[in-house]
Amino acid sequence: MRTRLSVNVNKIALLRNSRDNNNPDVASLAKIALKAGAHGITIHPRPDERHIKASDVPILGDVVRGFDQAEFNIEGNPFHQLMNLAREYRPHQCTLVPDEEDAKTSNCGWDCERDYSKLSPVVAELKKLNIRVSLFMDPNPIQMRIAKDLGADRIELYTEAYASAYNTRQRADVTSRYRDASLAAIEAGLEVNAGHDLDLGNLSYFLSEVPLIQEVSIGHALTADALERGMSRVVVEYLEAIQKGNIE
Ligand code: PXP
Repeated sequence: MRTRLSVNVNKIALLRNSRDNNNPDVASLAKIALKAGAHGITIHPRPDERHIKASDVPILGDVVRGFDQAEFNIEGNPFHQLMNLAREYRPHQCTLVPDEEDAKTSNCGWDCERDYSKLSPVVAELKKLNIRVSLFMDPNPIQMRIAKDLGADRIELYTEAYASAYNTRQRADVTSRYRDASLAAIEAGLEVNAGHDLDLGNLSYFLSEVPLIQEVSIGHALTADALERGMSRVVVEYLEAIQKGNIE
């Protein structure tokens, strides 16, 4: 099976928001990613709009809908503003994340047992809207049956611990926790996504050791790689522009 790549464009929006113009243009970079073969676009709007803003959502939704088979995934905390965006813009998938308003980035998965009564109506409403529901989860096999009981379609394995262990002696042990969690999720009847801190160095090993991952969503490292790999070409173009201006 082929794992799908959803490109998270948050960090592009973060750079754009540092000026009052639309540069870099998040929509046109999303289009470039989809034209290059990415299978979807992920956004994680936060209440403070420090990267993706509510006004980006319909624009990016339209971009994704211009590509057959591409999917629009909106992540976020359903007890902040995610549900209003889901009701209005109907993405293909919502990934529910228990992040605090001031969290730098998503930093833990749900405790489905503790949060069951809170999450259950939210999952039911999204399902009624025909939106696939994925719950952001730590690699804990015991939680997977409860995630299924909640009505989720998928879980997204929070891969920060895997990425941190990748270059250490703990790599094999930590990876086997992810494999066990993934197998438990599949056995419970869930599909499995993965994301956070995945990069060109650690991605292939993860997918070879943790089978049947439907989708990875990757933002930070992918954006950093795009900058690094594009830098020398762009410097040459600026030097050419200088030369053109210095002609006399
Ligand atoms: N999944 C979730 C739930 C996230 O919050 C993020 C970061 O926004 C990612 C995946 C992607 O993580 P990264 O930017 O490290 O690739």
